[in-house]
Amino acid sequence: MSEDAFYIRRMWSFSRALDLGLVDEEIEKGLQLTLGQRHGERVAYIAMRLGRNLGLGKRELVHLTVAGLLHDIGALGCFREYHGDPRILEKHCLEGALAVEHFPSGVILASAIKYHHETPDTLHAALRAPSEEVPLMARILSLADKIDLKMLRKQHSRQERNEILKWVRDKSGILFYPEVAIAFEQVAHKEAFWLDIEQADLLQIALGLLCGKWHLPATRDLDSGFTLNLAATFADLIDQKSQFTARHSWSVAETVESLARELGWQEDRLREIYVAGLLHDLGKLSIPKKILDKPGALNSDEIDIIRTHTYYTHRLLTEAGFPTRMSEWAAHHHERLDGLGYPFALKGNEIDEGSRLMTIADIFVALTEDRPYRVAMTPGEAFALIQRGAGTMVDERLVERVKRALV
Ligand SMILES: [Fe+2]
Ligand SMILES: [Fe+2]
Ligand SMILES: [Fe+2]
Repeated sequence: MSEDAFYIRRMWSFSRALDLGLVDEEIEKGLQLTLGQRHGERVAYIAMRLGRNLGLGKRELVHLTVAGLLHDIGALGCFREYHGDPRILEKHCLEGALAVEHFPSGVILASAIKYHHETPDTLHAALRAPSEEVPLMARILSLADKIDLKMLRKQHSRQERNEILKWVRDKSGILFYPEVAIAFEQVAHKEAFWLDIEQADLLQIALGLLCGKWHLPATRDLDSGFTLNLAATFADLIDQKSQFTARHSWSVAETVESLARELGWQEDRLREIYVAGLLHDLGKLSIPKKILDKPGALNSDEIDIIRTHTYYTHRLLTEAGFPTRMSEWAAHHHERLDGLGYPFALKGNEIDEGSRLMTIADIFVALTEDRPYRVAMTPGEAFALIQRGAGTMVDERLVERVKRALV
């Protein structure tokens, strides 16, 4: 029971990471408070309610919820383009399906995501698949997705709810699969459905419905193969965001692992710091591409926006239930020994060994990569520069101890 709850909680948090990546324009306008439109969460919730109504079993409901959370994983960074242009709508369905293939029950998730823009009248569909090819989960997602896009981010008046209900009724058999449209009518007849969806703790509400009585351990690990897959999938998404960081997350993971190995860390901790390395820039999903790829110097507002990324890495990994040490190793890579780092401005002993190694790895990898404003340094040059920051930015003693693993 709590295994499912934990799995959903983790995927919920990763859907928030995706959501951060969908809203470039809002961030540029400085509307940090409205970060993310919670699209994945809300679609997951609506789909789960419909699935219950349609009599899906517990396992299927868990998969349906996860598919809802991740359904737009193929549209990261270009949500509006993908959903505004019918010619490329299909692309995010196919890429999304590929991205989740290796997750637990990946075949089920992949088919639900692949067909999430199908409709009974194929004129409005992304892949124009005949109805018999579209699995029930995808039919449910298709309606849940359209409903959420129609909904405003506020409590709906009775009249507004009725308009949405009428729309679903009118378009049944065209935009909506009839059996799902009927389920929606029954679910949306309850006021709690509309009130639930606007609540900040929608995750708790969903878990209550899905898992009944549940108890979530604060942190815990899921199957380590899955954790690695999940981290690898997101490392690719993070790296794709900027043309200059094609392999940054992977290189940091490999480098930090080799540094920790040099210090004699045990295998289980090496695995953890590798995963933390893959995810250290997770919060970068929220940074507009325009800023990440800006060729010239950044202005102070843009620097402030870039600096938020480690804060979000910390929040997302904590919410996802990773052990505290892993969230910290990932999120503290811009902290400095002298307290001048961000976002927590930690000082000296407040920064543990794993975080110190992550900082060294991140700087080293960044310096040895091409950037818009300079070419890559050699390992020797990068190491010499890191040595200059020893004692203030990075740990002097550690830098010497890991030298062999770097140059
Ligand atoms: Fe979509
Ligand atoms: Fe969507
Ligand atoms: Fe970073």
